[in-house]
Amino acid sequence: HEESTKFKTIDNIEIGKFRCQTWYYSPFPSYFQDLDTLYICEFCLSFFKYKEELKRHSQICQYHHPMGNEIYREQDISIFEVDGERNTIYCENLCYISKLFLDHKNLTYDVEPFLFYVLTEYDQYGYHIVGYFSKEKPEPQNSCRYNLSCILVMPYAQRKGYGKFLISFSYELSKIEQRKGTPERPLSDLGFASYFSWWGCEILKFLENHTENISINDISNATYIIQQDVIDVLKRLEILIEVDQKMILRVNKQFLGKIKAVLGKPGRQIDREKIHWSPLG
Ligand code: COA
Ligand code: NA
Repeated sequence: HEESTKFKTIDNIEIGKFRCQTWYYSPFPSYFQDLDTLYICEFCLSFFKYKEELKRHSQICQYHHPMGNEIYREQDISIFEVDGERNTIYCENLCYISKLFLDHKNLTYDVEPFLFYVLTEYDQYGYHIVGYFSKEKPEPQNSCRYNLSCILVMPYAQRKGYGKFLISFSYELSKIEQRKGTPERPLSDLGFASYFSWWGCEILKFLENHTENISINDISNATYIIQQDVIDVLKRLEILIEVDQKMILRVNKQFLGKIKAVLGKPGRQIDREKIHWSPLG
């Protein structure tokens, strides 16, 4: 199986008004393997071998938005929460699609234990999917701190700040749950780059506003980023360094300014008031 992820068997997808090249193998049912193009309904995520089939489907598909509940809306952006247990096929299809852009071998297609947060852009024709992240349902008996399992921004919507927007959203949910979070590992290169940039921006924001007697714990409490991630990021940025066998934080304005310049843009902002959500259970 490890080998198979390297060889794509579906070269392109068409979804909504977009056509894009795939990156990796995905275990779609065998009838849909070895295709030049797979045609996907952008609303219900059903997929087809022939464009004509998708056209016929689109005339009768009753969806104009993802399944599930809309839990966030701000301007043209919405997020829908979809339960893997209630909308199993939709969520499985989402996993198959995301595997086309993920190098991991261990993506799960067993969707029941997960919630899916689907990000859309709205126009007169409906709510068009641009990305999502999945998250394990909270189980009182497990102490799992993952606040995100898998994240994808569709290739046609990448590099516009949606990745960092989804990451922000996952931490906003953690704040509502009052439980600090971290993404499930391993992260892909693009996943790590996005997280590193987002973590760095959040931590810097904190450091700019708090200059005295700062501890790792303070940063973690304020950002909901778990301590280990805070430490890793601070070390990589060389804000946390060892001097004479003591760890010190370098927080002078000039130095932080330099770091900020290399961290990139903060991503699309969330309006917290517009999140309508409470944790299950
Ligand atoms: N090259 C270099 N850096 C990149 C990059 C690329 N192609 N794509 C993202 N980054 C880095 C940059 O630091 C970027 O910030 P910047 O634009 O301010 O420089 C940051 O990551 C995130 O950018 P953003 O626009 O918020 O992310 P995105 O919408 O492009 O989505 C992913 C990021 C990871 C969700 C997206 O690349 C993706 O879906 N990849 C395929 C699936 C995947 O790998 N998921 C992660 C699994 S752990
Ligand atoms: Na990848």
